[in-house]
Amino acid sequence: MENIGRGNFGSKIGAVLAAAGSAIGLGNVWRFPYETGANGGAAFLVLYLACVIIIGIPLMVAEFAVGRRSRANNFRAFPLLGATGLWKYVGFLCVLTGWLILCYYVVVQGWTIEYVISSGANGLANKTPDDYTADFSSFISNPVKPLIYVFLSIGITLGVVLMGVQKGIERASKVMMPMLFIFILVLVGCSLSLPGAMKGVEFLLNPDFSKVTASTYLAAMGQAFFSLSIGMGCLCTYASYFPKEANLFGNAFNIAGIDTLIAILSGLIIFPAAYSVGIEPGAGPSLVFITLPNVFYQAFGSIPWLAYMFSLMFYLLLAMAALTSAISLLEPATLLIHEETHLRRRWSALLATAPVLLFGVACSLSMGIWDEYKLFGMNLFDLFDFTTAKIMLPLGGLFTALFVGWKMDKKALLSEISNQRTLPQWLIRIYYSLIKVILPLAIIAIFLNELGVFSL
Ligand code: TRP
Repeated sequence: MENIGRGNFGSKIGAVLAAAGSAIGLGNVWRFPYETGANGGAAFLVLYLACVIIIGIPLMVAEFAVGRRSRANNFRAFPLLGATGLWKYVGFLCVLTGWLILCYYVVVQGWTIEYVISSGANGLANKTPDDYTADFSSFISNPVKPLIYVFLSIGITLGVVLMGVQKGIERASKVMMPMLFIFILVLVGCSLSLPGAMKGVEFLLNPDFSKVTASTYLAAMGQAFFSLSIGMGCLCTYASYFPKEANLFGNAFNIAGIDTLIAILSGLIIFPAAYSVGIEPGAGPSLVFITLPNVFYQAFGSIPWLAYMFSLMFYLLLAMAALTSAISLLEPATLLIHEETHLRRRWSALLATAPVLLFGVACSLSMGIWDEYKLFGMNLFDLFDFTTAKIMLPLGGLFTALFVGWKMDKKALLSEISNQRTLPQWLIRIYYSLIKVILPLAIIAIFLNELGVFSL
């Protein structure tokens, strides 16, 4: 089923880095700390890790297998592998989910750009923790400024997607990701040296299971889906560009491992710093943007140029990490339109982006002047986040697992995952039981638990 004329990643390492670039993003540095903070800390982390292992890694392998086997967009991949009836629409649900995530992702991506610019203009220096809080809330509720950044984020993301698979996506991921990692390591050191930091470490690493409620499970599962980029066929799409020899299991382990490591390290930056300056760990989406400037300017306060360089570089890299993820959210819809309508790639990308412009603006405004319009007690931004991460991604994952486990041709699946028949039999057996039974049951159990049908 080799497809001539489609984009392909130029090298094995490029393919892996692009998938890692999709996984590593705001989900790790922004969403993980605030979900952990809002859900009681270490106990959430334990549930999150369980979700990564039981649901995340097997599902990532499944998405890789579907993508590389079919070498097609999400919509066509499932039917190509034997889906009939309603199964055909799984791919469509996936693309819709990614597109909805992008609508609020670009808002936060915009915030990172604002922080790049204000770091650059030295606007973060000489402030108290209260100033950072006030500045951030007045920025996101401003009716104009964040919108400019939404447009900018969308424009940049679109630009890279337009440059195509190899030149754009691959090249961007190769340099930025290792740099980000080094920066994060240094910042962990800085944060841990702040006075009172140990309370934050304890919050992240010492579990108190009495704080676990039904929604903690759902939050942990949603975060695992969001952070690993699974449940919407984004990795399917990327795997359709993978070379034949790419080792699907190995890649899934590596990507999930690095992604989780970066999330935990981000927690080790944020929580010690939050406790040190007296910011609530449950502060929500604003948490990272308020605590980080404190880390820079308290840790390097005596050497202002170092604080300046650090905050500028860090936000730049964070914006890059967000960009590689945003690209991966736009790519599935672009490819789908391109391959199904035979429109040029350029027009397909533009078409896929147009609605994001509209809803991105609405999500941004819902943090300020439209905050009073609420559905189920959530503004539009929170509603999009809740519906996608906690409902649509797990559903997409559930259907993908059921399809791969029960419907897809076993031989085809085996030839994709067995890595030229080098994978040991026992591992394949464990994999089958996970994907066919355990993983779907885990997702369903967490849903029923949330609905109060029974209690985990
Ligand atoms: N994983 C990315 C992050 O952590 C976000 C993301 C990119 C994503 N592509 C995705 C989430 C696909 C779910 C599905 O920031």
